[in-house]
Amino acid sequence: MSDQNSLRLVTLVGSLRRLSFHAAIADCLQELAPENVRVTKLPSVGLLPHYNADVQAEGFPLSVLELGNAISEADGVIIVTPEYNYSVPGVLKNALDWLSRLPAPPFVGKPVAIQSASPGIFGGARAQYHLRQSMVFLDAQVLNKPEVMVGGAASKVDVEGKTVTDPQTREIISAQLKAFALFAQQRKLLNK
Ligand SMILES: Cc1cc2nc3c(=O)[nH]c(=O)nc-3n(C[C@H](O)[C@H](O)[C@H](O)COP(=O)(O)O)c2cc1C
Repeated sequence: MSDQNSLRLVTLVGSLRRLSFHAAIADCLQELAPENVRVTKLPSVGLLPHYNADVQAEGFPLSVLELGNAISEADGVIIVTPEYNYSVPGVLKNALDWLSRLPAPPFVGKPVAIQSASPGIFGGARAQYHLRQSMVFLDAQVLNKPEVMVGGAASKVDVEGKTVTDPQTREIISAQLKAFALFAQQRKLLNK
């Protein structure tokens, strides 16, 4: 793997739950990614305080600065999030709100891919479209397709084993990661 072609992707998980479907999917991405891609997990969004402009005025919390730096250094971010009440979980939105206030907002121009799952049939689709809307204001570069929306997650994701067991789901995730690697690589070359 040459340095020029290698990619560093990071995952941002929208659930704090220990046996989260999304944490398990994020843990499985390295094995489903193309050879030249390294996937690592970002710190938990649960480490950030609630957004408060008064706190910001006193100085950004270290947890926000660290998350922002890790995103800035990555070639792309994969957001793996549940849908809460047809939208994005508050903890994830809170993290995006903090990150958007940094002097050098780390999502500007950053390649982003989105994945969601649900025990229900729609696989978190509605949260994805709300998330895409926020990412417009954050000026991220969001991959359009393939979309990863895992319905019926309980029979497709092994949360104890931290892996995706369903072959079709593994296939669509691999296809997205392949497309995303190409997308992020193109962006990286443009920024050189
Ligand atoms: C507050 C709350 C709201 C939820 N709203 C939705 C929803 O709108 N659509 C959906 O498909 N699932 C919804 N769920 C179910 C989640 O998809 C389910 O809890 C899932 O396991 C969360 O992801 P995790 O396993 O990664 O924590 C909701 C769950 C909670 C706790």
